[in-house]
Amino acid sequence: MNILKTIGSMDKAQRYVFFCELYDVGYSDDFVKYIASLPRESLSDFLVTFNAHERARINDDLDRIDCVDQKDVAISVEHLLEVLNRMDDLMMMQNKINEESADQMSLNRDFMKEWLTRPAPVSDQMQGVPCPPLEKPPVEGATIVVLPKPDPSILVSNDLFSAIRDRQSRRKFTDEPLSIDELAFLLWSTQGVKKTVADGRISMRTVPSAGARHPFETYIGIMRVTGIMPGMYRYLAVEHALELLFTDENMTRTLIDAGVGQRFVGECAACFIWSCVPYRGEWRYTIGSHKNMLLDAGHVCQNLYLACEAIRCGTCAIGAYNQEIVDQYVKLDGKDEFVIYLSPVGKLPVSSNK
Ligand SMILES: Cc1cc2nc3c(=O)[nH]c(=O)nc-3n(C[C@H](O)[C@H](O)[C@H](O)COP(=O)(O)O)c2cc1C
Repeated sequence: MNILKTIGSMDKAQRYVFFCELYDVGYSDDFVKYIASLPRESLSDFLVTFNAHERARINDDLDRIDCVDQKDVAISVEHLLEVLNRMDDLMMMQNKINEESADQMSLNRDFMKEWLTRPAPVSDQMQGVPCPPLEKPPVEGATIVVLPKPDPSILVSNDLFSAIRDRQSRRKFTDEPLSIDELAFLLWSTQGVKKTVADGRISMRTVPSAGARHPFETYIGIMRVTGIMPGMYRYLAVEHALELLFTDENMTRTLIDAGVGQRFVGECAACFIWSCVPYRGEWRYTIGSHKNMLLDAGHVCQNLYLACEAIRCGTCAIGAYNQEIVDQYVKLDGKDEFVIYLSPVGKLPVSSNK
């Protein structure tokens, strides 16, 4: 079977289903290895059948794989054929999902609307249940890195107008490390605690949050920050410190997988990973808190964009990620705490646009 011809003759819906199955949303090494084993010229007709974004991604992945082992290719072909043989079943399953998602879509629209005037459960707060803690405590005995106080003298530009005007999603970073002062500034800009009130039960931060619930934890995959050992950390916002969770020499690869193949998610100086602890919002707003928590996440990431601009760094919000991989990686149960957003940060090439 000519695999490229078969894929090339699929309609858009079939190809979408095929790639989802094969790559679990991102392009798999199997596919890339297979096409890397073919002469580049024979690919041109095939690539024409893809849209520009997919083409760029395939070419990008091809550049990564410069030498292909024949044994690997044999495995790839087996995998590709196996998925191709299941296409009829996969299309049937997809059609069923399409029908069901019409109902789901209507429910999700309701979730986006206000909840105050709808019947909702009585909140735990109303029932006198104590307020949940502001942040998870660090594990006893964990290594703690105390961060320098945010220092405006490190800013390359202190001009809000320019930061708002020049902000854009940045996906190309240099290998240059961030300084610890820069990282401290970014963490403070996104979740920094200015003061706590009500016996330390409520925090006022550098970002707004409905009912000051601040339902997030910040995990940070550090690849290149001067003075901090690479590893996965958690920001202790109240203490303005980092708790070391673990080190892992394969962190870049895992973060790329977590970002469904988006390479800059792992190939960055540091990757912000925000989790949500839903009960912090539910305690006060019950079911209506879910919408608020997602709105809150937007403020956090926007502050990261603007703070990055001020220190000549860049970032890109990531909503396309693999829930299971990233939750497992930062050791979350996926129910009472789960990742909702990522944003890799790095230094910008001198040539990058303002
Ligand atoms: C919620 C959200 C999720 C996003 N997810 C991704 C993503 O997974 N990958 C990516 O490359 N860009 C992602 N982006 C960036 C958008 O593509 C980008 O903001 C948009 O194209 C506008 O470009 P600008 O930010 O440079 O103005 C995301 C942005 C937001 C706000």
